[in-house]
Amino acid sequence: METPVIELRDISLTAQNKNIIGNAQVSIMQGQTVAFVGPSGSGKSTLLKLAGGLIVPTSGEIYYLGNPISTMNRSQNLEFRLRSSFVFQDSALWANQSLRQILELPLKIHFPQMTEKQRTARIVEVCVEAGYKRELDIRPSQLSTGEQKLIAFARAMVCDPEVLFLDEWTESLDESASRRLVKIVKKRQKEGNTIVFVSHNFSVIEELSQRICMIIDGRLSMEISTKDITQNKALAQMVEKGISL
Ligand SMILES: Nc1ncnc2c1ncn2[C@@H]1O[C@H](COP(=O)(O)OP(=O)(O)OP(=O)(O)O)[C@@H](O)[C@H]1O
Ligand SMILES: [Mg+2]
Repeated sequence: METPVIELRDISLTAQNKNIIGNAQVSIMQGQTVAFVGPSGSGKSTLLKLAGGLIVPTSGEIYYLGNPISTMNRSQNLEFRLRSSFVFQDSALWANQSLRQILELPLKIHFPQMTEKQRTARIVEVCVEAGYKRELDIRPSQLSTGEQKLIAFARAMVCDPEVLFLDEWTESLDESASRRLVKIVKKRQKEGNTIVFVSHNFSVIEELSQRICMIIDGRLSMEISTKDITQNKALAQMVEKGISL
């Protein structure tokens, strides 16, 4: 049987005496695109961070290609970080670094043999692809929220990942910028990348995802296929509004 790229087994997370995620169970296979949808505060971002190994669960285990993330050694962890990348809902760009430094860092860590010229060429390539056209020697505070999103997206692409975790990555963007990023993700989808994303944008969900996981109050309340929502208007409205049956 094929090993899932990412698997969450019985994941629960408690913080400050609050159950944030309860018994989440998801297996994501190579090349699949899965959307996490649900109301605000339901736990989508938290679940995505858990799946990406960025938060340690209170109980349960997350597996990357069958290996528990919690027992990975440094080199396995570095390999996982290289193969996967994350776009944070709030972009999470370093305030005290220039955009160039922010984009350079993953390349410096994962490809120390790269020359400065090669790094710059790669950075320019991902920025152009993402549609960021301004200078790089400025700080995130000098960007609009949408431009920060473009840099966060470019940073996630810079090491050419195979697994993408995207949290509301088209939020704050105008229609054409949003279309551009969706097109990039679609291309990556065709290349066999595995994509897990959070979105409130129904057309993005419909266009990209094969599986839709509805999260309500920190629990995976149901899973539906995109085919279901195209054939069932009531279900489509539930996904759009983030409500369950
Ligand atoms: N470290 C933490 N400590 C305490 N509560 C937390 C922590 N992290 C998240 N929460 C809470 O868990 C809940 C889920 O948060 P999360 O950010 O995952 O929601 P979300 O579904 O992504 O919402 P949105 O659609 O608004 O982005 C929220 O009530 C949030 O306040
Ligand atoms: Mg969120």
